[in-house]
Amino acid sequence: MVEVKGLLAVWQIKLDLDFHRRRNRRQIPNSNHYIQYMIYYIVSLIFIVSIEALALKKNCPEEHFILPALSDCHRWLNCSEIRNINIMNNIGYGTIKNVFKSNWRGNIVSVSILKHKKYLYDFNAGLNMLKLLNSNSFIVQLVGFCHELNIIVTEYHRFNNAINLKYLIKDSLSALKLCLNYAQILDYLHNNKLGTLVNCDSNTLHKLLSQLLITNDLNIVLADLDSIEIVKNSTVTCGSNSLQSNNNIDNLFMPPEQINYGIFNDKSEIWKVPDVCQYFINSSNDDLLKYLLFDVHKLCKSDIADRRPSAQTLINKYRSLLNDSLLTL
Ligand SMILES: *[C@@H]1O[C@H](CO)[C@@H](O)[C@H](O)[C@H]1NC(C)=O
Ligand SMILES: *[C@@H]1O[C@H](CO)[C@@H](O)[C@H](O)[C@H]1NC(C)=O
Ligand SMILES: *[C@@H]1O[C@H](CO)[C@@H](O)[C@H](O)[C@H]1NC(C)=O
Ligand SMILES: *[C@@H]1O[C@H](CO)[C@@H](O)[C@H](O)[C@H]1NC(C)=O
Repeated sequence: MVEVKGLLAVWQIKLDLDFHRRRNRRQIPNSNHYIQYMIYYIVSLIFIVSIEALALKKNCPEEHFILPALSDCHRWLNCSEIRNINIMNNIGYGTIKNVFKSNWRGNIVSVSILKHKKYLYDFNAGLNMLKLLNSNSFIVQLVGFCHELNIIVTEYHRFNNAINLKYLIKDSLSALKLCLNYAQILDYLHNNKLGTLVNCDSNTLHKLLSQLLITNDLNIVLADLDSIEIVKNSTVTCGSNSLQSNNNIDNLFMPPEQINYGIFNDKSEIWKVPDVCQYFINSSNDDLLKYLLFDVHKLCKSDIADRRPSAQTLINKYRSLLNDSLLTL
């Protein structure tokens, strides 16, 4: 989209220059020139109309969703509609829920079902977060829910979770774009209208990646919000509820303040960014890119949390590398 916009701008400048050059030479702009202008305006118009149509499609009203095979936004599914969903096969499971690929009136959706009543609190906390954060491109789209059945329906993503990116990423450019994408998700959580949000259930790289889903256009969205907590007094106590206590722990992946003092906040998530980004790059095995990222990733691994960059600083860094990448990668 941005590329088309850029091309249109360049085209317009070229036409204008041409026009003024002719005027300065006291030449009458020829009819060919006017035809070029006309084509330019028609193409621009088509472009504007098409992006507006696209924007309309994405911006459903509150409490609505849209799926590829639907022509209009649909209200979140209620219990009676959810009862008519055909459950197909199990595509994932966590501590608190099983996830099934399912069919709702010809649309493939993802159905999460609570495993055990003792996790009801976490299940509902996750659903609540999904409802609050739903209208954007960093969080998986909510399709419906039913409290009676303890079911949450979300958009289905055929590539499944970010662990699979190891097999999908083929070049450094897409690896770097995913690093940027992850930093954007963190920036969205850390600077949220609800406060500074962090994901407590991220004690291993595998666990963290398993909560991100890959979209069709190879972006990532956060799909599991069961352990999102609001940072208060610049820290949050993770592991206080039933969910996190029975988790694996990776001491190399976790920041020192979490291991030593049980302190966890937005800067603790920054500590983990290099590992996540490396995972994406590893699959393209680019030593030059690793070298270019060395300094900023080293900063993320500062023992003193305040020295670590913000998610926004990481976004800027990844963006500028992407910008330069045409020359270097
Ligand atoms: C559920 O949603 C459908 C479609 O929007 C609607 O026709 C139906 O009345 C709703 N059922 C309940 C119990 O709200
Ligand atoms: C937060 O910090 C302030 C000042 O340090 C303190 O007065 C307050 O009790 C703390 N609140 C909580 C919930 O810990
Ligand atoms: C990257 O690949 C190397 C070699 O295959 C492996 O030892 C390392 O653990 C990988 N790093 C990550 C972050 O996956
Ligand atoms: C991208 O690179 C160009 C040329 O080096 C520069 O003019 C532009 O400001 C850069 N944009 C960003 C977002 O870094």
